[in-house]
Amino acid sequence: MSETTMEKIVSLCKRRGFIYQSSEIYGGLSGSWDYGPLGVELKNNIRNFWWREMTQLHDNIVGLDASILMHPKVWEASGHVSNFTDPLVDCKQCKSRFRADQIDLEAPCPTCGTKGSFTEPRNFNLMFTTHLGSIKDESSVVYLRPETAQGIYVDFKNVVQSSRVKVPFGIAQVGKAFRNEITTKNFIFRSVEFEQMEMQYFVKPGTDEKWFEYWKEQRMEFYKKMGIRADKLRWHQHGPDELAFYAKEAFDIQFLFPMGWQELEGVHNRTDYDLSQHQKFSGKDMTYLDQETQERFTPFVVETSAGLTRNVLMALSDAYEEQTLEDGDVRTVLHFHPAIAPIKVAVLPLVKKDGIAEYAEKLEKELREEFTTFYDQSGAIGRRYRRMDEIGTPYCITVDYQSLDDNTVTLRHRDSMEQERVELSKIAETIRSSMRSYKRV
Ligand code: GAP
Repeated sequence: MSETTMEKIVSLCKRRGFIYQSSEIYGGLSGSWDYGPLGVELKNNIRNFWWREMTQLHDNIVGLDASILMHPKVWEASGHVSNFTDPLVDCKQCKSRFRADQIDLEAPCPTCGTKGSFTEPRNFNLMFTTHLGSIKDESSVVYLRPETAQGIYVDFKNVVQSSRVKVPFGIAQVGKAFRNEITTKNFIFRSVEFEQMEMQYFVKPGTDEKWFEYWKEQRMEFYKKMGIRADKLRWHQHGPDELAFYAKEAFDIQFLFPMGWQELEGVHNRTDYDLSQHQKFSGKDMTYLDQETQERFTPFVVETSAGLTRNVLMALSDAYEEQTLEDGDVRTVLHFHPAIAPIKVAVLPLVKKDGIAEYAEKLEKELREEFTTFYDQSGAIGRRYRRMDEIGTPYCITVDYQSLDDNTVTLRHRDSMEQERVELSKIAETIRSSMRSYKRV
C-alpha cells in the first residue's frame, strides 16, 4: 500500500471536482478555496452529520444562525481586538513574513537565506476588517467574525427567553469564520475563510468540569461514528503557554494528517468569561435564573469547536487509499463512511441497448428519491467502477440482461468489491441496511 501524500489528495480533489484553488484563472488567492460539485456534497454531508448528532441526537441543544458581521463592541468584549494576535517577524532583506513561533529566529531566512535578518516579533491581529456604510473611517470599522461562538453568547438571553431551554443546555451553530492567517500551506488545513461547527454548552458553575469530561468523550465518539479510524485520532492537552486567552482548560482532538498530527477540534472550558465580558461591555444582564431553586448565576460554558473545512480534509485523508490488486492493477479508493459519501449509489447499465439503459434509468430515478445517485452508461464496466471508487461511492448497481428476465440487479460494495445479486424490490432496503451496519474493510 503506498503512502497518502497531500499532493495526491490535492490532485484527486482538483481532477474529480472536490476542491479547486479560488480565483485560479487569476493565479489564485492565498488561503482561499472553492468546493466543487463533489466537495460541496461532502462538506454538506459532514455538516448535516454533525448537526444531527449535536441537535437531534442530544437533549437540550438548539440551533442558531447568527450573522457574520456583528457590532464591533462584541470583539472588544470578547478580547479578540486586544488578544487575538500572532507574533510575526519580517525578513529585513527579502520582506518575507513569518510567524515567530513557527520558525527558528537564529536560523537563516527560509526564503532568501540571509542570516540574522529578522525584525523583532510584533503582534498582528488576525481579524479582517471592513467598513459598514459609505464612510470609511475608524467609526465605521466592523470585523469579519474569527469564530462563530460570539454570536451564540450575544444571543444567549434571546434563546433563553424565546425557547424553553433550561441549564444545562447547548446552542449549536455552523458558519463561516475568517482569519488573516499568514501561514496557509497544507491545502485547506489553514485557510483565511473557513467554516466552523461550534456548540456552546451552558452549565451551572461547579458542574463545568463534569460536563467538560462528558463532551470530550462525546466528541471523540462522534469521529469514530463518522467512520474515522481510531488510530488516526488522539488527544492533546493544552499546556499553560498554549491556552487561548478565554480558556481555563482545553484539549484538542488531533488527527494524523499527511503532514503529521494536527488539531482537528478543540474542547474548551471557557468558564463564565464570555458572558461576563458581554455583561460588562453591553451593560445588559447576562445571568440566568434557575426557576426551581431561584438561584441566579452566570453560566459556565463548555465549548466544542470543530473546523468543518478541516473535517473535509480529514475525511479525504482518512479515506484515501491506493490498492494494488491481484492482477497488479492499482485502484484509488476513498473509503468514506456512506453517511458522508458525496454519491451513495451509482446505477450502471452493462450495455446501452435492448432496453437495459431504460431499465437502469428508471431504477436510478426511483432511488434518487432516497439516495444521492449517479447514472453512468459510458465506458467499460471496470472503468466505471474505478471512477466511482475514486470518488468514494459505496454502492454500484449494475443492470444486465438477466435483470430483464428475473428483475434482479448486481450490487457491488466499494471496499470489498464483493458483488451480490439482489431482487429489485429489495434493493433499497439492502442498501439502507448495509449503510446502517457499515464497517470499513
Ligand atoms: N471558538 C473557539 C475557536 O475558534 P480555535 O481552536 O481557534 O477555537 C477551532 O478553532 C477549530 O476551527 C480548529 O480546531 C480548526 O478545526 C478550525 N480552524 C481554526 N482556524 C482555522 C483556519 N484558519 N482554517 C481552517 N480551520 C480553522
